[in-house]
Amino acid sequence: MKDSFLPHLLLFLAAFLLHLPPQISSSTPSPLPKEALPTKSGYLTINSTSGSAIFYTFYEAQKPTTPLSETPLLIWLQGGPGCSSMLGNFYELGPWRVSSNVSVEPNPGPWNRIFGLLFIDNPIGVGFSIAASPEEIPRNQHDVAKHLFIAIKKFLMLDDSFKTRPVYVTGESYAGKYVPGFGYYALKQNAKLPVSERLNLQGVAIGNGLTDPITQVATHALNAYYSGFVNDKQKKVLEDLQKEAVELTQNRNWSEATNARSRVLDELQQMTGLATLYDFRRLIPYQDELVAEFLANVEVRKALGAKESIVFEVCSDAVGELLHADVMKSVRYMVDYLVKNTKVLLYQGHCDLRDGVVSTEAWVKKLKWEKIGEFLEATRKVWKVDGKLAGYVQKLGSLSHVVVLGAGHLVPTDQAVNSQAMIEDWVLEKGLFADQQINKLHANVSGSL
Ligand SMILES: *[C@@H]1O[C@H](CO)[C@@H](O)[C@H](O)[C@H]1NC(C)=O
Ligand SMILES: *[C@@H]1O[C@H](CO)[C@@H](O)[C@H](O)[C@H]1NC(C)=O
Ligand SMILES: *[C@@H]1O[C@H](CO)[C@@H](O)[C@H](O)[C@H]1NC(C)=O
Ligand SMILES: *[C@@H]1O[C@H](CO)[C@@H](O)[C@H](O)[C@H]1NC(C)=O
Repeated sequence: MKDSFLPHLLLFLAAFLLHLPPQISSSTPSPLPKEALPTKSGYLTINSTSGSAIFYTFYEAQKPTTPLSETPLLIWLQGGPGCSSMLGNFYELGPWRVSSNVSVEPNPGPWNRIFGLLFIDNPIGVGFSIAASPEEIPRNQHDVAKHLFIAIKKFLMLDDSFKTRPVYVTGESYAGKYVPGFGYYALKQNAKLPVSERLNLQGVAIGNGLTDPITQVATHALNAYYSGFVNDKQKKVLEDLQKEAVELTQNRNWSEATNARSRVLDELQQMTGLATLYDFRRLIPYQDELVAEFLANVEVRKALGAKESIVFEVCSDAVGELLHADVMKSVRYMVDYLVKNTKVLLYQGHCDLRDGVVSTEAWVKKLKWEKIGEFLEATRKVWKVDGKLAGYVQKLGSLSHVVVLGAGHLVPTDQAVNSQAMIEDWVLEKGLFADQQINKLHANVSGSL
């Protein structure tokens, strides 16, 4: 397995280094023009014995404001469990997005304007990533993190300038589990490694995340009721279903608990009749099938350096099934650790009825952090981008919470420019994310470099 893809990878990278255009048949125009190709893409080996490998696409900063060796690097992890980060890449925050005619167009608010941006198909078995056998696919967050740590360290070794770059791990939905899982694992590993081998992790960001399911599953009834989607009688039905999900979770009957959560969401879907719970405004669901259609093109797969024999699925049912019993397991304790040791951003599109604002605030209150009381008392500030209302920001010390208006579950899809402003200001600690003491410290540190 290893031998079959490694030469491909080397040839592909060599083609890039020599600035040779990848071979694209000249008769039909490629739906992925040359200017839309990633800076680097291909495979990072996870297990050289079996051949399991993680697929990635990397886009260098378009207009970096710092030398590349100091330019922040954002890593994006898709949720699911089982969905490909190519959804994030080509439908949400990447520099080129698939439009309704299945060709790509520049994104007005890509997250790689001033930062490097790395998309990872995680875990193995998802998207273009290769799982040599189903047994090797992770069943829990510790194993997911272990693979990611191997892959990310390998990626950082691909270029000398990568090693020192500040790394921010971001993701959405079920990545509300992966992002804390990885951050926690990486910081614990760092403590055991010599300074030169540590990962320069500077923060984690979660969009519309599932992080503390037992708390979050209990919020749908009230949220739907006070938003006017269900009446009092329906609220009680939802509350009974939620109670089942909570009890099964308390009993550690994990798989049944996941099924019980699905019954809550199915009932809510039935009652509301919405096109999608991911965004109550939508008349049709998000069109993620466009990404599958786009990546079904063999020329596109070739140009990306993806294994051509892989039949691309936006979300892998097989991987989803293997992580079924993981869904209701909380990683809130990992966020307790992260908020004390790095910085954390939690943002939600306001119109998401699955993993939205109310659902996040419910578990944030429970964080075991000496400053949580102060955080909850902090002012929620009105956030504007180019003079227009964009949402609300609440920040205290290392924790930031953002409500993004006019967005559902896929925030960058719905608010490209505002989501870019959010991530840039959060990373650089500007605007509403500025913190005077931290800014002074940074000024002193950068002054001494
Ligand atoms: C790597 O693959 C081999 C062969 O399938 C397997 O025995 C081994 O456990 C794997 N190692 C890791 C770290 O997953
Ligand atoms: C797809 O649509 C965009 C505008 O939405 C247009 O600019 C582009 O030329 C179209 N591409 C094809 C192949 O039709
Ligand atoms: C898990 O829950 C199901 C459904 O309530 C029940 O039938 C089963 O006995 C439970 N399993 C365990 C191990 O408690
Ligand atoms: C930064 O440096 C200035 C002068 O060099 C010093 O007065 C100040 O206390 C330093 N600030 C921090 C936060 O270390």
